[in-house]
Amino acid sequence: MSIQSFIPPQRILMGPGPSDVSPQVLSALSRPTIGHLDPLFVNMMDEVKVLLQYAFQTQNEFTMAVSAPGSAGMEACFVNLITPEDTVVVCRNGVFGARMIENVMRIGAKLIIVDGTWGRAVDPQVLEDTLQQNPQARFVAFVHAETSTGALSDAKTLCDIAKKHDCLTIVDAVTSLAGVELRVDEWGIDAVYSGSQKCLSCVPGISPLSFSEQAAAVITSRKTPVPSWFLDQSLVMGYWSGQSKRSYHHTAPVNSLYALHESLLMLKSEGLENSWARHRLQHKKLATGLDKLGIEFIVPENERLPQLNTVTIPQGVDDIKIRQYLLQEYNLEIGAGLGQFSGEAWRIGLMGYTARSENVALCLAALKEALTI
Ligand SMILES: Cc1ncc(COP(=O)(O)O)c(C=O)c1O
Repeated sequence: MSIQSFIPPQRILMGPGPSDVSPQVLSALSRPTIGHLDPLFVNMMDEVKVLLQYAFQTQNEFTMAVSAPGSAGMEACFVNLITPEDTVVVCRNGVFGARMIENVMRIGAKLIIVDGTWGRAVDPQVLEDTLQQNPQARFVAFVHAETSTGALSDAKTLCDIAKKHDCLTIVDAVTSLAGVELRVDEWGIDAVYSGSQKCLSCVPGISPLSFSEQAAAVITSRKTPVPSWFLDQSLVMGYWSGQSKRSYHHTAPVNSLYALHESLLMLKSEGLENSWARHRLQHKKLATGLDKLGIEFIVPENERLPQLNTVTIPQGVDDIKIRQYLLQEYNLEIGAGLGQFSGEAWRIGLMGYTARSENVALCLAALKEALTI
């Protein structure tokens, strides 16, 4: 077997993530690797923290990037905050709510599930009723933007309800960060994590994370050690919090952090509100075009994610054949349905650098053609 350098094709990534990475970010990635304790790198990490605070709209001191994908950010929140004695309410309206449940079960905490309909936002009234019936609950966890279904939940209202019942909130913002409005401090979110590969349009493999003061106090006052050494955030913070105290925990993914720094800089220079507006605008263009093709959305209009469009595969259309055609003829990737929607839906992503008019136009034209073959 002759193994050669791997040269991937130039695809257009319109699936559920990763999204297209801009040439500017890819160029940052290829800059010379320096030591992860080099003073210049340490300065750059401080800037990453400030930029992440901007992206999350938080002043949280405990804001950093986990050196692993979004699932690690999720797990970091659960293993640091929750002990087997705690009662945790998890809202499940798709695959990623189910992944949160898996985390709670593995910790051995008491679990209460608020089950919702796939393709719909989490119902705030059901959460309210659940918390009234379970005054011992200490945490509420939910997914802001369910990538498996394309539904956006009202994070502000859900956090208000959780606070009223003295619960701390854990929010999955993997797909929502930079794509739709997210205000960590104003909405009272206590633990939030995201992913680099969605609306930040950075390379996959990094999970931005932020803890409120109250959440940080829960972690620092734990009586038992965090069951994961790598994800123990009190140890990791020794590396992320300030030059004088910076100490080795693990070798940071140096070049990936250059890329994250660059993608966050791009977000800052575009402006967060402008980024949210761009995702909405491109979604509207796509929705208008899909309507003309007779392709219907699964999620009701007021609960739709602009950055992840879940549509029903038209009757009699071969899911795999169409997606293969788009990939082979146009280098265009759209996402398959996941979980309950497997084989029944397509997930068309408009995330980050992908959310541009030329991609929407190409996707619509290519889909139209594919549907006639
Ligand atoms: C909402 C949501 N949460 C968590 C994850 C897990 O992130 P990762 O695949 O980077 O581990 C994803 C990934 O698609 C996601 O969409």
